[in-house]
Amino acid sequence: MDEKRVTYADLKDELLLTREQIASRVKEMGRQITKDFQGKDLTVICILKGAVVFFVDLVREIDLPMTMDFMAISSYGSATKSSGVVRILKDLDKPVNGRDVLIIEDIVDSGMTLSFLKENLLSRGAASLHIATLLDKPERRRVPLQVDYFGFTIPDEFVVGYGLDYDERYRNLPDIGVLRPEVYEK
Ligand code: IMP
Ligand code: MG
Repeated sequence: MDEKRVTYADLKDELLLTREQIASRVKEMGRQITKDFQGKDLTVICILKGAVVFFVDLVREIDLPMTMDFMAISSYGSATKSSGVVRILKDLDKPVNGRDVLIIEDIVDSGMTLSFLKENLLSRGAASLHIATLLDKPERRRVPLQVDYFGFTIPDEFVVGYGLDYDERYRNLPDIGVLRPEVYEK
């Protein structure tokens, strides 16, 4: 652990995923996606803000022609539990009709955000739609959702770092750790 970073004090001592573990998994995911989409021209969509760090790492491991777009969704507010309400805060710049779309997300929890997005983008006429997420918390799923690529399955604990936040903080940590409950219970 990098003792110099003050924000690490709010994490449980043992990191959940180190930057090295994340980097090697992201490489594997990029290789798999490159293989699976041979001959395609992708539209890769980053779900802001949580997926942004994963996105910039993953797209550089995908050796295919692609365009990028960004969408911001809110389902959480600043709490650690999903509100169930999904709202588009920033929509795509370009239409996706006829495009092969790959959504890049940080984590699937209840599954509500992504099942909303999936339906939304398919209704706009995407030719195909796939999902890549770094983390998956299967125990918390409330709606069925098919995820095509995921990095790591994690237990039902609130994690931060590598793009993931609590109340907009900790996104800049290079590793992923479990937030000490004292931090959000106070
Ligand atoms: P879902 O709609 O419940 O699947 O929520 C997914 C969204 O909740 C993610 O994009 C994250 O922003 C947020 N989220 C879920 N679990 C965590 C966590 O452990 N840490 C940080 N954000 C989380
Ligand atoms: Mg998010």
